[in-house]
Amino acid sequence: MRITPEEILSKKKQGKKITALTAYDYPFAKILDAAGVDIILVGDSVGMALFGHVDTLSVTMADMLRHTEAVSRAVQHALVVADMPYGSYDDPAAAVKHARMFLQTAGAGAVKLEGGSQRVHTQVEALRREGIAVMGHVGMLPQSVKELKGYRVRGRATEEARQILEDAVFLDRQGVFSLVIECVPKDLGSEITRSVQCPTIGIGAGAGTDGQVLVLYDLLGLQGTVKPKFVRTYADLSVQTSEAVKRYCRDVIEGRYPLDSESY
Ligand code: KIV
Repeated sequence: MRITPEEILSKKKQGKKITALTAYDYPFAKILDAAGVDIILVGDSVGMALFGHVDTLSVTMADMLRHTEAVSRAVQHALVVADMPYGSYDDPAAAVKHARMFLQTAGAGAVKLEGGSQRVHTQVEALRREGIAVMGHVGMLPQSVKELKGYRVRGRATEEARQILEDAVFLDRQGVFSLVIECVPKDLGSEITRSVQCPTIGIGAGAGTDGQVLVLYDLLGLQGTVKPKFVRTYADLSVQTSEAVKRYCRDVIEGRYPLDSESY
């Protein structure tokens, strides 16, 4: 049985921390699921992490459906959340149509969309009316990177912090089952967490949120040159992969691979 959005909601009441990570493919989703992570987010960060784009704006519904399908096939326990890509939820009808695709054909248990009262004024309500579980996302909004003039900590200025808090409260009232807070000062992360009923899941929002999410490739040291301050690398798969590849090449060149026992 997979974890439900209601179970994620009730974790806040029980004071239990929520663990979330991104995955885009079957093998990593299987590992994350077996390791016991609560939420596997098929993030549109796939555009940057896997496809090498500079932002998430070129990620399409077709991309997200394919990756969500692969992840869903691997997952037995975690809640699978599909990130709705840029342009897929511009109005309530589009939001419902595309969210249904994630739930009906790709096997997700919920969808995530970015923005507050301006960007998704009526979308969350429309999705909830259809019984679709929604994760909100405030703070640094990667799909608005052009308007926001780049990736930066948001909510340092009083007015910006007030707007982010208002957006969080708005989404909570609209019925999101959880809320990602990205890249804001830790005091704002804590204030939002105290101000909303739903659990907050921080990424670069300090330790006062109800849970944490990271991009798996960052955690594994598979990311390129930019490393935000909030990323903790738990493994260095870049170095390990490079060493494994070099050993393989040496073995092939020097005739040590394959052995007789590895041949038919
Ligand atoms: O796309 C993504 O991976 C995300 C996380 C950073 C929360 O939205």
